[in-house]
Amino acid sequence: MTVRELQVELGERRYPIRIGRGLLDDPAALAALVTGRHALVVTDANVAPHYLARVQAALSGKTTGTVVLPAGEQEKTLARFGDVMAALAALGASRDATVVALGGGVVGDLAGFAAACWMRGVRFVQLPTTLLAMVDSSVGGKTAVDLPQGKNLVGAFHQPAAVLADVATLDTLPPRELRAGLAEVVKYGAIGDAAFFGWLEEHAEALLARDPDALAHAIATSCAHKAGIVARDETEQGERMLLNFGHTFGHAIETQQGYGGLLHGEAIAVGMVLAARLSADLGRAPWSDTARLAALLGRLELPVELPPGLSGDALLARMRLDKKAVSGAVRLILWNGLGRAEVVNGVADADILPVLEP
Ligand SMILES: NC(=O)c1ccc[n+]([C@@H]2O[C@H](COP(=O)([O-])OP(=O)(O)OC[C@H]3O[C@@H](n4cnc5c(N)ncnc54)[C@H](O)[C@@H]3O)[C@@H](O)[C@H]2O)c1
Repeated sequence: MTVRELQVELGERRYPIRIGRGLLDDPAALAALVTGRHALVVTDANVAPHYLARVQAALSGKTTGTVVLPAGEQEKTLARFGDVMAALAALGASRDATVVALGGGVVGDLAGFAAACWMRGVRFVQLPTTLLAMVDSSVGGKTAVDLPQGKNLVGAFHQPAAVLADVATLDTLPPRELRAGLAEVVKYGAIGDAAFFGWLEEHAEALLARDPDALAHAIATSCAHKAGIVARDETEQGERMLLNFGHTFGHAIETQQGYGGLLHGEAIAVGMVLAARLSADLGRAPWSDTARLAALLGRLELPVELPPGLSGDALLARMRLDKKAVSGAVRLILWNGLGRAEVVNGVADADILPVLEP
């Protein structure tokens, strides 16, 4: 299979995103990612049995350490961050060390934050193994851990030096995780690319069936959108906020469920539908587009309704604490219909609460 390569351009800096099957089977390319003496590979207990040995073998010429975290969003904590710091210290990692994130968005966010903090910032590379990480979290340099009070509240911007997405790793990804990644793929169509949204409508079944060409096209298109937006707005002063479509709702759901309910991508699917319904209520988006969004997500077997047992008031309180909130007023990404989204400050509680009613 051909390897597709994109560049994330950040003024003077740039880094490659490589997408293709079998990238983890190229030891020389993996070894080239580590430029200094030390490398710490961070992964999780589900990913390690499949892919860790290949990465370790490729880096055998370096002084390496490994951290295998328990899997799951509940582990994206300051305590696990401390474990990674301790492993860097045990390795004697110097300023030319490289942190290698092998896994999904949880591993990538946590390892990236560790790389941002170790000696005030060392090199890090992303080897994403979930669809969500390939299309979204591995690109753009947002790193963080969660607190019980909210998602991603402690973090830093720290760009990777390279992203290598080996599409073959998706062969072992559980179906529910694949679907969660598709939610973020749909997001790019919804907020900025109506033609891509139409392509997704035509290829929903192929994507669910893991058709390699369909997946490669979806990943490359998503990465191109993400790379473009990050290049124009690295630190989220404007346009990059649009990538948070559905996220203020979604993060509130995840936090309220104690990070053990819906998967992140599933919560974003619900959040996008809630944001679209609110936008339609406010007369910003046509109801027909909101119905198309919910229908596509439904065909991708993603949830589109709030899970039972969550109170609207409690969710709203969470939304006020979200990083996107300004001075306690909720700032939301609202929708102007397919392919168009907008940042709206100070959305009134009275407008939001009705869409949070079961
Ligand atoms: N930094 C960003 O810009 C950004 C963007 C979007 C999401 N995120 C974050 O990403 C996280 C979600 O990422 P995720 O959905 O990848 O979750 P995840 O990292 O928890 O991975 C999902 C599950 O799949 C398993 N897994 C991973 N790769 C596998 C493989 N190839 N085969 C078998 N099992 C595999 C993992 O062990 C885990 O159980 C959230 O914390 C979210 O906040 C960050």
